[in-house]
Amino acid sequence: MAKAMGLSKILAAGVGILTVSSVCGLVMMAVVYKIQIDKFPPVSPPPPIRPTVIPTDPPSSFRLPDNVIPESYKVFIQPYLYSAITNNYTNQSFAFTGNSTVRVKCMTNSKTIFLHAQDLNVTTVEVRQSDTNEKLTVNRYKIHQNESNFFEIQLEDIMSGNGTYYDIFTTFEGELFDGLEGFYVSRYTENVKAKEEEEEEEEDEYKERLLATSLLQPTNARKVFPCFDEPALKAVFQITVLHRPGTVAISNELGDPKTTEIDGEEWFETIFEETPIMSTYSLAFTVSEFESKMMSSVTKIHIHARREAFSVDRADYALEVTAKILDHYQITFGSKYPLRKIDQIALPDISVGATENWGLISYPESGLLYDKSTGSTFDQERVATLIAHGLANQWFGNLVTMRWWNDLWLNGGLTTYMSYIGVEAVGWNFRDLFVLRETQTAFQVDSLNSSHPLSSQENDIQTFSEITGLFDAITYSKGAAVLRMLAKFMTEEAFMKGIKNYLAKFEYQNTEYKDLLDCLQEETKEDVEGFMSTWIEQVGYPVITIITQTGETTQEHFLLKQKQGHDIAWQVHIRHMTDRESEKKPVTLKVKGPVKLPSFQLQDRDEWLLANIDCTGYFRVNYDEENWNNLRIQLERNHHIIPIINRGQLIDDAFNIARAHRLNITIALSLTKYLVNETEYIPWDSALKNLDHLVLMFDRSEVYGPITKYLRKLITRLYEHFEEYTINRTVPEKHTDQYNQVNAISVACSNGLAICTEMARSLFEKNKNETNKFRMHPNLKKEIYCSVIANGDEDDWEFAWEEYQKATDAAEKDKLRYALSCTKEIWLLNRYLQYTLEPSKIRKMDMVSTINYIAKNVAGQPLAWDFVRGHWSYITQEYGAGVVSLGSLLDAVTKRFSTEVELQELKQLQSEQEEKKQGIAARALEQAIERTEANIMWVKENKQMVKDWFVGEL
Ligand SMILES: *[C@@H]1O[C@H](CO)[C@@H](O)[C@H](O)[C@H]1NC(C)=O
Ligand SMILES: *[C@@H]1O[C@H](CO)[C@@H](O)[C@H](O)[C@H]1NC(C)=O
Ligand SMILES: *[C@@H]1O[C@H](CO)[C@@H](O)[C@H](O)[C@H]1NC(C)=O
Ligand SMILES: *[C@@H]1O[C@H](CO)[C@@H](O)[C@H](O)[C@H]1NC(C)=O
Ligand SMILES: *[C@@H]1O[C@H](CO)[C@@H](O)[C@H](O)[C@H]1NC(C)=O
Repeated sequence: MAKAMGLSKILAAGVGILTVSSVCGLVMMAVVYKIQIDKFPPVSPPPPIRPTVIPTDPPSSFRLPDNVIPESYKVFIQPYLYSAITNNYTNQSFAFTGNSTVRVKCMTNSKTIFLHAQDLNVTTVEVRQSDTNEKLTVNRYKIHQNESNFFEIQLEDIMSGNGTYYDIFTTFEGELFDGLEGFYVSRYTENVKAKEEEEEEEEDEYKERLLATSLLQPTNARKVFPCFDEPALKAVFQITVLHRPGTVAISNELGDPKTTEIDGEEWFETIFEETPIMSTYSLAFTVSEFESKMMSSVTKIHIHARREAFSVDRADYALEVTAKILDHYQITFGSKYPLRKIDQIALPDISVGATENWGLISYPESGLLYDKSTGSTFDQERVATLIAHGLANQWFGNLVTMRWWNDLWLNGGLTTYMSYIGVEAVGWNFRDLFVLRETQTAFQVDSLNSSHPLSSQENDIQTFSEITGLFDAITYSKGAAVLRMLAKFMTEEAFMKGIKNYLAKFEYQNTEYKDLLDCLQEETKEDVEGFMSTWIEQVGYPVITIITQTGETTQEHFLLKQKQGHDIAWQVHIRHMTDRESEKKPVTLKVKGPVKLPSFQLQDRDEWLLANIDCTGYFRVNYDEENWNNLRIQLERNHHIIPIINRGQLIDDAFNIARAHRLNITIALSLTKYLVNETEYIPWDSALKNLDHLVLMFDRSEVYGPITKYLRKLITRLYEHFEEYTINRTVPEKHTDQYNQVNAISVACSNGLAICTEMARSLFEKNKNETNKFRMHPNLKKEIYCSVIANGDEDDWEFAWEEYQKATDAAEKDKLRYALSCTKEIWLLNRYLQYTLEPSKIRKMDMVSTINYIAKNVAGQPLAWDFVRGHWSYITQEYGAGVVSLGSLLDAVTKRFSTEVELQELKQLQSEQEEKKQGIAARALEQAIERTEANIMWVKENKQMVKDWFVGEL
């Protein structure tokens, strides 16, 4: 087609010349024409071929048009960065250049091509037809300077639309930013003396090192090279990275480095194998002088990290669990891991928990490296959990990808659900913690008006901030919780079979959530779509209210701020028990009600009903007061009759239902009394989370005194239960007991239980004394340091600060960073806040969590809020518009908000944002305002009652 077009253009030009130059010629032509007519009598002309209108306007939405579809890319990237500057004559450079050839299939006749590019300087654009290599004339190209990030190429010639292939070649230049997204640069220091062991007396010398790495999810691939940056536009990628000698480049596939010369300089050229067909957001590249450790099985497993990490075998645990989980997943999913290698890299700076890239997953150091001597059980579990998550993403996300971001929950929910299966395979018996970690977390966010459904309409999710706004607890935790409910509904066995079908059927493709449901449907007689559509498409979740005297049951949309909920019903599947029967036949409720359900009607006044066994259903349950009372009496008499998860869930439900004004708060408070006899982690942790909220609401008022007294009384037994371990510097065997030991110390010390604070001081002093090499157990370090610093002076703070600076293990640093926020000294807290602006003191990625810690401290709260407001433009600049943690920052610094003044301050920030047309963290801001309004109302109504209850218990 391009060829034909070229010819007709020449012809047209010729005709033009003819008409102006000679009348004589025209006469000639008329004569010839006459002769021709005589020779060939005219036949009626063929129907005119209507010229198809070829659109050249930009698409009306931010989505790419479907006139061309990418098939494969060949990309060269050359970062000029040096990882280390070894002499004074070299200039560091933060630029990269590159070129890319993308082969596209043209589906409709077109004169324009739209792809994505952002913050790039595109220097060449060439379009050729692939078969003939014939070049098409490019009229102009430009990057749209709006949120579409369209990179538009206007052709003079028409691309032919019947599946013809074209190659789009671009050359471009970009900058390695400091911003933790796109292709970015990260700094760390390395002790260079350690390399030369012979030289004895030399001082430690720390040298700055740099590395380049990428975070392309969700829409940052366009910042590295012009591309079709949408998840469904999958293609094959062949990446080549040109990098400085002495560095190693890694990417999604295996690479082969060799030296080459460019402009008289030596370079390394690492050519990576072709990837499978994949989405742009899962691409990754890293250039560093990191070292690595390998474990070779069928899949080559590499852990990459700073050199120091390997001196103490910090990567060993990651290697071990990766191999095991990878094997376990391949069997469980019935699907082979398709790449020949998996690289995992521990980055000193990263803004997310872990990336999901195919074949190259990056983590913060504390998420991948585990130091046996300083790491706590929690640190170890985090490594296992994150790896289980990252590896599950290789299937759910990379092999099978959601069609568009509106179904991100497919990716997030499935991986979160599967990660529990993964960690279980490496010895963490953690399924029971699912409710604590996922369901209860999702319940919190999902009870706000500003929540969103699991799956939205494609059109509602278009801009960068709309997309990044979906990376939240709804997508990950609610997604997983709803899948857990479904698995219980259709049996886990059938669920996993359906998952296998799904992976097999859609590998290398994109899906919508209905595709998943269809695969699951094949394995069960239950109506999967009928059951699930209410949970996936509707926002929020219900509270089921059961009146046990009559069996009358109602469901209502549960919202914390008692505004009328949406008038919607869910399909609710209720497993339940009574004190007479341990599990009765489940009941299904499809209407709002009220309906009379005989199985919920109790015969005796002292009998109780417990609905939602193990909290497998994603809903809360409220009862008549008498039933609540009977449940409480059962807990006090013999709590073992009630399943552990429900002991926690009863408390969580009661407190939250009370927060929503649907239950008297004293009923919720009474449920905590039995805890003096409780030693299990799940009920305790559920209770502490909720009591914590009460503390946040009242720790600036006179109610706080009675609350701490009650907490001291409540915790004493649990503290004593673990005291022998604490003193012996050992820990209980069960993981959950270890966590509960830490909870006990945390609550006891922070509420001023003398035996606890004294124990903390004494362990701290012994630990400080370098001559007797005393080591406190790593599990306890965080809380013990916190207690000492909270009750201590400047010297204690300085001591911890020095330890923080000396620590080389990220997990160890994290513990100290937390403890430093515990001081009650305003000036120390202010100093600490200032440090968060200096990346040499507090790493960029730790800024948000450090401010969060400070805000959690009642003395630090107002300081943190002023600080965040005062530095809002700096923080938003440093963290870009989309970084998830900005939401968490806002969330944390405003958690305690419960006064009119605070509400006004929030609203002011919101209107300032709107004036500047910044959508930054808009949803988080909205949520904070809503929560504050709810808190104000709640405190007003409940303060006196809460105070009276606590005073009465003393
Ligand atoms: C490089 O500069 C540093 C400080 O400016 C100096 O101490 C050092 O001697 C210089 N090294 C060389 C090789 O010139
Ligand atoms: C792309 O860049 C690489 C590295 O600079 C170079 O070797 C290659 O020839 C370039 N490709 C084209 C088509 O110019
Ligand atoms: C604790 O357990 C004992 C013995 O089972 C019981 O008598 C007591 O009432 C329980 N205390 C509370 C507050 O539940
Ligand atoms: C604590 O140490 C003492 C004495 O060594 C020992 O008898 C006791 O069993 C230990 N307790 C625990 C819980 O480890
Ligand atoms: C440090 O430990 C040594 C030996 O146990 C002891 O003699 C010394 O008094 C301790 N110093 C402090 C400050 O506790």
